[in-house]
Amino acid sequence: MGYTFLKKIQNHYFKKAKKEKYSARSVYKLEEINNKYQLIKNGFQVLDIGCAPGSWSQYLLKKIGNGKIVGIDIKKNVQISDKRFTFIHGNIFHIDEKFLNSNKNTFDLITSDAAPNTTGNKFVDSQNSLAIVKKVFRIAQSVLKINGSIIAKVFQGEDLKAFIDGVRKDFLKIVLFKPKSSRKESYELFIIAIKRNENIDTKY
Ligand SMILES: C[S@@+](CC[C@H](N)C(=O)[O-])C[C@H]1O[C@@H](n2cnc3c(N)ncnc32)[C@H](O)[C@@H]1O
Repeated sequence: MGYTFLKKIQNHYFKKAKKEKYSARSVYKLEEINNKYQLIKNGFQVLDIGCAPGSWSQYLLKKIGNGKIVGIDIKKNVQISDKRFTFIHGNIFHIDEKFLNSNKNTFDLITSDAAPNTTGNKFVDSQNSLAIVKKVFRIAQSVLKINGSIIAKVFQGEDLKAFIDGVRKDFLKIVLFKPKSSRKESYELFIIAIKRNENIDTKY
């Protein structure tokens, strides 16, 4: 695919996000995932990991009716003022026991668009991304409801398959999805883990 054509597509999503008042064009990846898998429902409690600047949470707010969203990010640039949205400024690797214990089996859905700062070294970047995903799944062991689901971004890398094989038994279904709105040259994918089973005690 030519560089000019790629730029055109990126520009298309950028303009669309601006017009539709979303804070980032990443929203269209979540929209595509939800159009296909219908995982966001009215009344849902959602944990949105790596939520800044906030387009996924904006989209989630449109879908959850009287549900609730907790968004977490290291960055502070989240400007959502909606009483159904709570922002936690922090690093998921430092998430405390108090949060995990007070939110036991609370969330119907965990979304994570969290990505490491990229180094340009594909191996290092995919390992760092997988470390985030493993942490997301560890958090889910405490706070995700039975039958709850996870949508998590990951960079493709050599250890991804082993991880997916390991978590497969903890969910009804696991799929890897590449949205059309994700840049073709990017090696990001989304792990869609549908309906957690009762016991998920895998050591991630
Ligand atoms: C691609 S952006 C997310 C965009 C967001 N989904 C949206 O639609 O606006 C990735 C975010 O992950 C956050 N992030 C990366 N590592 C994190 C960590 N360990 N804990 C919390 N947030 C993290 C970054 O600060 C960044 O804001």
